Amino acid sequence: MASISLCFISFLCFLFGHGVFQLQASHHVHKPQTSTSLPYHYHHRQPYRTSYHFQPPKNWINDPNGPMIYKGIYHLFYQYNPKGAVWGNIVWAHSTSTDLINWEPHDHAIFPSQPSDINGCWSGSATILPGEKPAILYTGINPKNQQVQNLAVPKNLSDPYLREWVKSPKNPLMAPTPQNQINASSFRDPTTAWLGPNGEWRVIVGNKVHTRGLALMFQSKDFIKWDQVDHPLHYADGSGMWECPDFYPVAKTGRRGVDTTVNGKNVKHVLKVSLDDTRHDVYTIGTYDVEKDIYVPNKGSIEGYSGLRYDYGKYYASKTFYDGQKKRRVLWGWVNESSSVEDDIKKGWSGIQGIPRTIWLDASGKQLIQWPIEEIQKLRKNKVTLTNKVLKKGSTIEVKGVTPSQADVEVSFKVKNLKKAQILKPQYWENPQVLCSQKGRAATTKGGVGPFGLLVLASNDFKEYTSVSFTIFKKQSKYVALMCSDQSRSSLNPTNDKTTYGAFLDVDVDSEDLSLRSLIDHSVVESFGLKGKGCITARVYPTLAIGDNVGLYAFNNGTESVTITKLTAWSMKKARIN
Ligand SMILES: *[C@@H]1O[C@H](CO)[C@@H](O)[C@H](O)[C@H]1NC(C)=O
Ligand SMILES: *[C@@H]1O[C@H](CO)[C@@H](O)[C@H](O)[C@H]1NC(C)=O
Ligand SMILES: *[C@@H]1O[C@H](CO)[C@@H](O)[C@H](O)[C@H]1NC(C)=O
Ligand SMILES: *[C@@H]1O[C@H](CO)[C@@H](O)[C@H](O)[C@H]1NC(C)=O
Repeated sequence: MASISLCFISFLCFLFGHGVFQLQASHHVHKPQTSTSLPYHYHHRQPYRTSYHFQPPKNWINDPNGPMIYKGIYHLFYQYNPKGAVWGNIVWAHSTSTDLINWEPHDHAIFPSQPSDINGCWSGSATILPGEKPAILYTGINPKNQQVQNLAVPKNLSDPYLREWVKSPKNPLMAPTPQNQINASSFRDPTTAWLGPNGEWRVIVGNKVHTRGLALMFQSKDFIKWDQVDHPLHYADGSGMWECPDFYPVAKTGRRGVDTTVNGKNVKHVLKVSLDDTRHDVYTIGTYDVEKDIYVPNKGSIEGYSGLRYDYGKYYASKTFYDGQKKRRVLWGWVNESSSVEDDIKKGWSGIQGIPRTIWLDASGKQLIQWPIEEIQKLRKNKVTLTNKVLKKGSTIEVKGVTPSQADVEVSFKVKNLKKAQILKPQYWENPQVLCSQKGRAATTKGGVGPFGLLVLASNDFKEYTSVSFTIFKKQSKYVALMCSDQSRSSLNPTNDKTTYGAFLDVDVDSEDLSLRSLIDHSVVESFGLKGKGCITARVYPTLAIGDNVGLYAFNNGTESVTITKLTAWSMKKARIN
C-alpha cells in the first residue's frame, strides 16, 4: 500500500506540479469531418458502409487503442490516417459513448508533436491510476524511426470527454539503448499496467529477437521512470513479432470480469498476442506466478501460429478493458477490409471495429467465451421467429420480415442422427480452414451431418451468398463441430480476398442445441458459434446482393435432416457509429 500512495502523490505532482507538464504548443488539429458534410453521391455509392459497426466517416483505421470507462463514459481511441484510405500519418482518433454502440467523435487525442512521436503515434493502452486518473502509454516513432514508449494524460480531468491530452516532457519513458539492446524496429504496443508483486506498476511491450516473440516487462513506482525487469513476462520461440500484447485476469467461475491487477486463487490469467507473421490474435490461459513474476501457460497450451484464436476470421490487434460499471471485461478488435487497395481508395475508407464482446472463461477452463455486449440488443426491431422446422437434405428456408443486410440472427439446430457424422481424418485435425474450403470439402464431404447453417447476403438468384455453417464430425470418441464462414461466393468482384475461414469447436451434442448467431451489417458478417465458443468475422462485398435483391436463409446441405429448434431474427436499427 505504501508504494501505491507514493505513486499517487508523485503522479499528482506530475499532473499539477510546477510546469513539469508543459502544454504542447499549438498544433494542427485534424478535426474529423462529419458524414453529413460529404457529398450526396458519396453516400449513394456506399453499399459497404456499416450501420452499427463502428467506423469514422472516411479514411483508414486500424487498432483500437486505450479503451476505457471513465466516470460513466466509454472512450475508444483508434489508429487513424487523417489523410487517406491507406495506412500512414498515424494519430489517435477519439470517440466517446455511454453505451458502446452510439458514438460521438472528438478531436484527435494524440498526434505527432514531440521528437519522441514525430513520425507517428502508434498503439497503446490506458491505465486508470489511483484517484481516478487515466494515463495512456503509447508507442511513438522518433526522428530516427525508432519505436519508443511515451506517456500522455488528460489536460483537464473535469472535462467529462477528456478531449485534450498532454504528453510527458520526459518522453520517451522506455527506449532502445545500446545497453538494453532492444531492437528499435520491434518494440511496441504497451499494455494496460497492473500492480506487480512488489507493489510497483508493471507493463509489457511487444518485441521479437530473431523468431522469438517476447513480452518485455518494465516496472515503475511513479508511472514516469520505468526500468526494464531482468526477464520478460513470457516469450515463445518461433512465433515472430508479438504485437499488441494483452495480459489480464479472468474469474475461474462465472462471467464477471475482474480488474487488471487482481490475482490469486480465484482467477486465471490470459496472455493474448497479435502475431505479425500470420495476422491472427492468439491466446493462452495460465497463471501469473507472483513469486517468479512470470506468466506460465497451462500445461498443454499451444503457443504461436496454431494457438487458440479469439476469432478465426478477420480480427486483429484487439484489446480488452475492465468495465467496472458493468463488472465485465470487454474486447475490441480491428476488422480489416478484404477488398483491394484500389477499391479502398475508391470508397474512401478502410477498416472497422468489431462489435465489442464480453469475454469470460469457459466452464471447462480451456478456452474463453465471447458474446456481443448486451447493449447491441437495443438496436433490434421487427422480431421474426421460426420454431421446429425440419430441414431436409438440400433444402433452404427463407427468413422473411427483416432487413437481410442489417440484421441480428440467432438459430439453434438439433441433429437427429449423429451416427451419420463422418469420421474426421487426422490430416484435417489441425486444418479446419482447408476443410471448410471448396477444395477440402470436395475431398471429404459425401453427405453426412451438415453443412447446415445460414446463407447471408444472398442475392435472389443465389449467384452471391456467404454461408456460415456447421458440419459435425466424429473425432475418435467424441464429436466436433466444424464451423465455417465461406466467402468464396460472396461477391462477383474477383479482386476481393475470399478466403474461407474455419474452426473446430468441441461439442456435447447430446446435451445442447447447436447454436449460431450472426451479426450482419452490409459488408461484415460477425458469427458466434455454440454460444460464443467460436467466433468468425468475415468481410464481404456483394455486387448483386444489395438493396432489395438480398435474402437471409437457413439451409442444410448434408444428407441427414436437421431441425431448427428456434430461429429468431431482427432488423437492426442504425446506430450513431461516429
Ligand atoms: C475543465 O473542464 C470543465 C468541464 O468541461 C470546464 O468547466 C473547465 O473550464 C475546464 N478547465 C479548464 C482549465 O479548461
Ligand atoms: C529488428 O527488427 C526488424 C523488424 O522486424 C528486423 O527486420 C530486423 O532483422 C531485426 N534486427 C535484429 C538485429 O534482429
Ligand atoms: C488486410 O487485408 C488486406 C486485403 O485482404 C490484406 O492484404 C492485409 O494483409 C490485411 N492486413 C491485416 C493486418 O490483416
Ligand atoms: C450445397 O451443395 C451443392 C452441391 O454440392 C453445392 O453446389 C452448393 O454450393 C452447396 N451449398 C452450400 C450453401 O454450401
